[in-house]
Amino acid sequence: MNYRHAFHAGNFADCTKHALLVALLAALQRKLAPVFVLDTHAGAGRYDLEDIAARRTQEAQSGILRLLDSPAAALEPYLALVRALGLYPGSPLLVRALLRPDDRLACCELHPDDAAALRRLFARDPQVAVHHRDAWEALGALLPPKQKRGLVLIDPPFEAADEFARLAAALTAVQRRFPQGVFAAWYPIKHRAPVRAFLTAVRESGLRDVLAAELLLREPLDPARLNGSGLLVVNPPYCFEAEAQPILDALLERLGIREAGEGAVITRVADE
Ligand SMILES: C[S@@+](CC[C@H](N)C(=O)[O-])C[C@H]1O[C@@H](n2cnc3c(N)ncnc32)[C@H](O)[C@@H]1O
Repeated sequence: MNYRHAFHAGNFADCTKHALLVALLAALQRKLAPVFVLDTHAGAGRYDLEDIAARRTQEAQSGILRLLDSPAAALEPYLALVRALGLYPGSPLLVRALLRPDDRLACCELHPDDAAALRRLFARDPQVAVHHRDAWEALGALLPPKQKRGLVLIDPPFEAADEFARLAAALTAVQRRFPQGVFAAWYPIKHRAPVRAFLTAVRESGLRDVLAAELLLREPLDPARLNGSGLLVVNPPYCFEAEAQPILDALLERLGIREAGEGAVITRVADE
């Protein structure tokens, strides 16, 4: 496990994922029934953008720091949380801030240092369970939840060559275990071919009602660069698609660098 999220926290792809995550959870919470959230690859929970890792890559400069300087109505639910939470929040802290009293969060993290940081962050929090365990194994063990409604964020580091195939297979398996669950899976867009193959695998797996929300900074031609990122959403809540487009548009307007091939696109991967 070489990937450490501290080097990438606050970059354009992290902000895209988090702004959409906040919108997804808010959409689910429009109904009163309690929600269970599973964050399978949770990271450390929060990040100091002044620490050595973040300063070395400077990725937050063209991500969250730019957004905080140039707010937009569509991004306000997300940016208000970032401002309120102090250190730059990762997905578990954003979700925790939105939980209602009967909602619950379970976080899994395999790196021992990040799992320990998460445990410290949520010590004595009765609404949050932290698991130092493998995400893929936890998907089988922790689903379905006793709450009937749930959101599962799957945010792997994409270090392994077969991560796209593994993600497609895991989504198919867990959707069978928890058919009413909403699943959100993050993926990098470096070049087109692996993303196309992933979306085709998802479509051919028989999964229904699937959207892909993608932000592209440029034509994805260089496999050595992160040219964009996507969030695949299975069973999106009512209205999510309409709410996600202005979020992506506002992100592109602020984070785009006017390169050829940039875009903010939501595509339907599989019909309901
Ligand atoms: C992209 S980061 C997560 C960022 C976090 N979701 C956020 O948005 O703030 C991926 C995390 O997955 C962890 N990880 C890698 N392989 C894992 C596995 N098999 N099970 C659980 N966690 C894993 C890494 O240590 C890393 O912290």
